[in-house]
Amino acid sequence: MPRLLLMTRCLLVCLLAASAGAADELHPGGAATGSAGPEALQATAPGLDLMLGLDAELGRALFEKLWVPAPTATRASDGLGPLFNARACVNCHPGNGRGHLPEGGQGFGAVLKLSQPGADAPIPHPVLGSQVQDRAATGLRPEGHMALRFERVSVRLEDGTEVALRRPVAEITPAPSDPVTLALRVAPPLVGLGLIEAIPEAAIRSGADPEDRDGDGISGRAANVSSRALGQEALGRFGWKAEMATIADQSAQAFSHDLGLSTPLYPDPAGDCPTEACRAMPHGEDAGLRDGREVSGAALDLVALYLSSRSVPARRDPTAAEVLRGEQVFHEIGCAACHRPGFETGAEAARPDLAGQTIWPYSDFLLHDMGPGLADARPGVDAAPGEWRTPPLWGIGLTRAATGRESYLHDGRAETLLDAVLWHGGEARAARDRVTALPKADRAALIRFLESL
Ligand code: HEC
Ligand code: HEC
Repeated sequence: MPRLLLMTRCLLVCLLAASAGAADELHPGGAATGSAGPEALQATAPGLDLMLGLDAELGRALFEKLWVPAPTATRASDGLGPLFNARACVNCHPGNGRGHLPEGGQGFGAVLKLSQPGADAPIPHPVLGSQVQDRAATGLRPEGHMALRFERVSVRLEDGTEVALRRPVAEITPAPSDPVTLALRVAPPLVGLGLIEAIPEAAIRSGADPEDRDGDGISGRAANVSSRALGQEALGRFGWKAEMATIADQSAQAFSHDLGLSTPLYPDPAGDCPTEACRAMPHGEDAGLRDGREVSGAALDLVALYLSSRSVPARRDPTAAEVLRGEQVFHEIGCAACHRPGFETGAEAARPDLAGQTIWPYSDFLLHDMGPGLADARPGVDAAPGEWRTPPLWGIGLTRAATGRESYLHDGRAETLLDAVLWHGGEARAARDRVTALPKADRAALIRFLESL
């Protein structure tokens, strides 16, 4: 975008941001804003109805529950697998925070998604399915294990600073006999999901500019996906490639692919498992119990309620001089073109606690072409291999406090916020180049601002 246009746009946005910085933005989740620490990610949002709060606690128990393979005597917790990646949701989403790459024997929360080469939407592999499961019930072999190596890339900033970046390259051992496309994904933090769901579709779609009519070099495309929970086509809002429309859709897919548990939305008790050997294993379904599934529709709703009613962390030091300077830089160099600061949730949202809130997620929830450096070979349901959904930035400054490590971007490659920004390419190339040209103090202010979110 021409510099003048950028400055005019910034003047407007910055004025908005500056006035907001003083008031609203202190409460990024509106009435659902909680404490300023990582415990906010797990805490119940203030304002949630008391009865719903009790149900949300049941949802929490299901999110943290350790499942076991069938059969067991009690039947209440069985049905895990036969192929699975983890025994509980919380294993990959520790403290509702971000997952990490498995390195040096520690860290967890990453999966390998699969597709057949050359397809323009994901097509399951005939033997391995949609995802590599690295664990299995007794009597069955896991599909394989993830092996990672890192390619190193060095970036020189204009002030002479060298930054060492890494790009993970994943393989499966043993290697499958026929060709397969692998895609490494870390678990995103689960922040403000109910509020994101409560943003009217039209508000998100109105930001899309797929043909780049305004000529600012940034397009932004809404993902259209089919929602099993809604029973219709809907805007994709969740996941790195905006592949899921609702929290329930994403959770049901997780039960199926990550834990091997059936729900009314993914009714196959074998989960993501195409082979005969796997399909012949015992399962945890009981006619007449739990809608006949391993996890009932009611239980799935409780998990979705739990995730939709967590508080959004309050900002830390939002009015410190360096943070305010960083916020100004963020707008001036064009970050806000995709990381859109604010939204209003719908007045008619199904849950009164989520309705009519001014929120500050720092995302437009649209897909952007982020260039070849971030692309992998697997397309999304409605996303090219190089297209990613702008991730919300609220709570991002609590990453290390929440989980002890930092792993940003879809495959966890970035170990610092600066690394994450330096990987930006494609539509974000210009903004990224402005970061490399920033004076040191402004770059530090930009990072400090991100840390305050
Ligand atoms: C083996 C690790 C793993 C387990 C177990 C797991 N997840 Fe996830 N989760 C992920 C990954 C990876 C993603 C990102 C997927 C993508 O975008 O392609 C994700 C994404 C999500 C999202 C979308 C968040 C967003 O902001 O876009 C939700 C919601 C979610 N998981 C809920 C659950 C629930 C509920 C369970 C348990 C039923 C669960 N997860 C179990 C790894 C896991
Ligand atoms: C063209 C749109 C666009 C612009 C402009 C943009 N970003 Fe991003 N940003 C994205 C997308 C898309 C991702 C996710 C990419 C991925 O995971 O591969 C992302 C990821 C990030 C992340 C990591 C988030 C996470 O959860 O891992 C940070 C931090 C970030 N951006 C900050 C910035 C800053 C600071 C700027 C300005 C210099 C900026 N972005 C400009 C689209 C954009």
